[in-house]
Amino acid sequence: MRLRPVTWCTVMVGAFSLWAALRSDAQESLRGGTQTEEEVKEAAKQPYANDLGSDTIDVSSYPPQMQRAHVLFSQKCSRCHTLARPINSQWATAVFWEHYVKRMWRKPGSGINGAEAKQIWEFLVYDSQVRKLDHREVFKAFRRRLLEEFRQRYPARFQELYGGAEEDAVRLW
Ligand code: HEC
Repeated sequence: MRLRPVTWCTVMVGAFSLWAALRSDAQESLRGGTQTEEEVKEAAKQPYANDLGSDTIDVSSYPPQMQRAHVLFSQKCSRCHTLARPINSQWATAVFWEHYVKRMWRKPGSGINGAEAKQIWEFLVYDSQVRKLDHREVFKAFRRRLLEEFRQRYPARFQELYGGAEEDAVRLW
C-alpha cells in the first residue's frame, strides 16, 4: 500500500499529537495522578519559551464574534500563567488546540465551563490561522528567537522541554 503525502502528513501529525499527549499525561501521573489546585498553580509557574513573547494580540481587525471570544480567552486563560503562553505557542491547528484547551479546562480550579472552552477553542483556531499559519515562516523565525533566548535564560528547563526536539518546538502544529 502506498500512502499519499497528505496521508503521511496526517499520520505524522497524529503520531506527534499522541506523543505530546502521552508525554504530558505521563508527567502528570509521575506527580501522583490528579493534581490539587495548589499543585496546578505551582506547575503553572514553570516557564515555557512562549512566556518570553508578548502577552497581547491586536484583535481590532477580527470579526465581532471573535473579539468577544477574545475577551473570554483573556479572562480564562490568564488565571494560572500569562496569556503569552497560548499566544506564542507552536500549537496552531484545530486538533492541537482541542487537546490543549481540554487539558486546561479539566485542571482543578480552571474556572472554565464546557461552553466557554468551546468558544475559546474557536478563537484560538481562528487566531492561529490569521496570525500563525498565514505567516508560517515569519512565525517560525519568531519561535526560533524565543527558543534561543529561553535556552540562554533557562538552560536546564530548555533541555527538559525541548532538548533534542528543537525543530519540533519551532514549527507549527
Ligand atoms: C488552572 C490553571 C490553568 C488555567 C486556567 C489554564 N492553564 Fe494553561 N497551563 C497550566 C499548567 C499547570 C501548565 C503546565 C503544563 C501542563 O500541566 O499542561 C499550562 C501550560 C499551558 C500551555 C503550554 C503547554 C505546552 O506543552 O506547550 C499552553 C499552550 C496553555 N497552558 C494554554 C492555556 C489556555 C489556552 C488556557 C485557557 C483555555 C489555559 N492554558 C488555562 C495551567 C492552566
